[in-house]
Amino acid sequence: MLINFILKPLIANITYIINSNFNVVIKFKNINQEAPYLLLKEKYDDALNSGQKSIEAISISSFNTKMNEVDSRYVNLKFVINDRFIFFSNYESPKAYSFSCHKQICALFYWPSTNVQIRMKAKIKKTSSEFNQKYFSQRSKEKNALAISSNQSEPINSYAQVKKNFNKSLKNDNLKKCPQYWGGFSFIPYYFEFWQGHESRINKREVFNLIEGEWRNLYIQP
Ligand SMILES: Cc1cc2nc3c(=O)[nH]c(=O)nc-3n(C[C@H](O)[C@H](O)[C@H](O)COP(=O)(O)O)c2cc1C
Repeated sequence: MLINFILKPLIANITYIINSNFNVVIKFKNINQEAPYLLLKEKYDDALNSGQKSIEAISISSFNTKMNEVDSRYVNLKFVINDRFIFFSNYESPKAYSFSCHKQICALFYWPSTNVQIRMKAKIKKTSSEFNQKYFSQRSKEKNALAISSNQSEPINSYAQVKKNFNKSLKNDNLKKCPQYWGGFSFIPYYFEFWQGHESRINKREVFNLIEGEWRNLYIQP
């Protein structure tokens, strides 16, 4: 009784404050009020209150048409602004190349603290250079030195060389100026699947499909 009514909400609040202060959370701004976005926010708050670590880590799968190859990687989702999901990366990286030749992507969260998977399908594009510049100028100089000095995913002779390039950038570059080759990607899902795992294995799967501007919702079998 005591644990359920007093301790659990207290622990949830403390966890929320700690997570917020360490700035590891996704920033929701003016969130879209349609059903899948409200459910996303509800699941997100549950996971955050359950102490979910790396809650902002999201897997992005893309298709490279030249290589005829699918690839995935985690990124940190920084914002959900209305219906747009935003993360940041290098515009000359393999993922950026894949997005430019095949705009359709799949994005995936898994939050073990609440046993929730959220799958999204979307078309992706770059954010504006004004938006990138504003965000870049608010980041730490270390993060910016790395963004400037790294030719992301290109081969290099050694890890020592990576550190050398970073230190050189930290010392010499204008760390407030966002380079052309770095910025945000945004995507607006046309499909959501919320998977809620249960110990019984009778998992709940709820799908939202955007059809002619309207969200249609249905359940699918586990
Ligand atoms: C939890 C996690 C978060 C990451 N966040 C980012 C990110 O926000 N942006 C980014 O460019 N790479 C991020 N990375 C590194 C990417 O997974 C990947 O190694 C890098 O972007 C190169 O990907 P690419 O070769 O497919 O372009 C992250 C990795 C992990 C494990």
